[in-house]
Amino acid sequence: MSSRRKKEWFDNDKFWRDLYPFMFPEKRFQETSAEMDGVLSLVKPNGKAVLDLCCGPGRCSIDLAKRGFKVTGVDRTKFLLDKAKTGARKAGATVEWIEMDMRDFVRPERYDLVLSMFHSFGYFDDKREDMSVLRNIFASLKPRGVCFIELMGKEILAKIFQPTRSEILPDGTRFIGRSEIFDEWTRVRNEWILVKNGRAKTFTFHHTVYSGRELRDRMEQAGFINVKLFGNLNGDAYGVDAERLIAAGHKPS
Ligand SMILES: C[S@@+](CC[C@H](N)C(=O)[O-])C[C@H]1O[C@@H](n2cnc3c(N)ncnc32)[C@H](O)[C@@H]1O
Repeated sequence: MSSRRKKEWFDNDKFWRDLYPFMFPEKRFQETSAEMDGVLSLVKPNGKAVLDLCCGPGRCSIDLAKRGFKVTGVDRTKFLLDKAKTGARKAGATVEWIEMDMRDFVRPERYDLVLSMFHSFGYFDDKREDMSVLRNIFASLKPRGVCFIELMGKEILAKIFQPTRSEILPDGTRFIGRSEIFDEWTRVRNEWILVKNGRAKTFTFHHTVYSGRELRDRMEQAGFINVKLFGNLNGDAYGVDAERLIAAGHKPS
């Protein structure tokens, strides 16, 4: 299946490797435990089986495994899974790591909680593929299991959107980001330029941006019920002050 698919930006391992220090600074790992406190207080899963879909370097998987959850971490990027394996070894945590595309991973009625954290949803050119990911998640959940998705919502992006921005990263690298909205406010295209020691590397990628309503509708189409939206991991409303778009929905019993 995957070999017949056209290659998209997220299939480029170099993208994840080169951007690793920018996407996953130490601070992101340090904040993970508080994030998982937030997730668990918002969704209270019925059991211990967790799927961390697009687990990347495993920060959520490892934290949950240390709390006694039985975690499967799935990701397509070997470089990131290697980081995850090293992190788990250091933390003394046991996690099942699987290198697979999120469109292909499905294990019927296996999990109490499926997590999709830090904008790991909405990557595909063919938007129907997002729906098949939601259907896979639905199938992989046990009855009364919960799906938790956290990403940058369209309403938030519209509020903070800047066509260009620039900052100096902690290691002195200059970051220049250029973004444009296209496809009638359904997608954003980004160009990120990192300049270090006088050398510039450019990365371009694009993804779908979901409004709260659009994400909830799609989850309901996939079969989820009681889909609730939140604006942060404290459980505040998805309103004008939202920091992230969080959607949590249940598989019926
Ligand atoms: C922004 S990172 C988030 C990582 C992790 N969820 C976290 O919270 O730290 C997005 C992740 O999605 C993974 N990814 C991208 N496209 C994928 C696909 N088609 N199937 C599986 N994983 C994918 C990347 O390898 C990367 O680890």
